[in-house]
Amino acid sequence: MNAVPESRIIEPKILYFGTPVVLLTTENLDGTANITPMSSAWALGDRIVLGLGKGGQGISNLRERPECVLNLPGPDLWRSVEALAPLTGADPIPEWKQPLFRYEKDKFAVAGLTPEASTRVRPPRITECPIQIEAAIRHISMAGDSTSFAVVEAQALTVHAHTAIVLDDSHIAPEAWSPLIYNFRHYFGLGPDLGRTFRAEI
Ligand SMILES: Cc1cc2nc3c(=O)[nH]c(=O)nc-3n(C[C@H](O)[C@H](O)[C@H](O)COP(=O)(O)O)c2cc1C
Repeated sequence: MNAVPESRIIEPKILYFGTPVVLLTTENLDGTANITPMSSAWALGDRIVLGLGKGGQGISNLRERPECVLNLPGPDLWRSVEALAPLTGADPIPEWKQPLFRYEKDKFAVAGLTPEASTRVRPPRITECPIQIEAAIRHISMAGDSTSFAVVEAQALTVHAHTAIVLDDSHIAPEAWSPLIYNFRHYFGLGPDLGRTFRAEI
């Protein structure tokens, strides 16, 4: 018989229990693009829900210009993501962020990433990201004080995928694609395929 695992109560400083990294591109007031690295995102049907800090340039852009691209990097791009980590496109920088973050206007250049025109929204896609989802913002909740998060509901409009991870017109090949996972502030790729669910078509 298997030993029963023991557990204990802890007070974790963070609850980032392992979610894919998204590089969210949005349009600044002057028409340039911002990139917000984020990982509080989940999809159900064609809706994608995002959690965004209220002091960031990402949410500020989405409230004024409600469209974006959710660019999904693979594990090989973790250093580009980390190059973006200490940056904000917000000027002035919110007070609580000032000791740790610095303002950067051209995040594409800093991260060595390439902007590519989208088909249905104004913010650009990121060429290096194997999955790029153009999306329209359908709802934003700003409930709570300035230290809480905005909850954003986006609707996927067009999905682009690198041909190397595409199986056919309506499927991504799961063994060819690995998201970059943000796991308690460390970056990981996926391990081996463990099996398929009963509804898997491939
Ligand atoms: C891997 C990673 C995941 C992150 N996840 C989130 C997130 O889900 N929501 C969020 O608001 N900030 C998240 N952040 C922090 C933002 O990237 C950070 O606040 C940044 O300054 C926002 O940029 P902006 O102000 O230009 O939008 C994450 C950062 C990294 C590096």
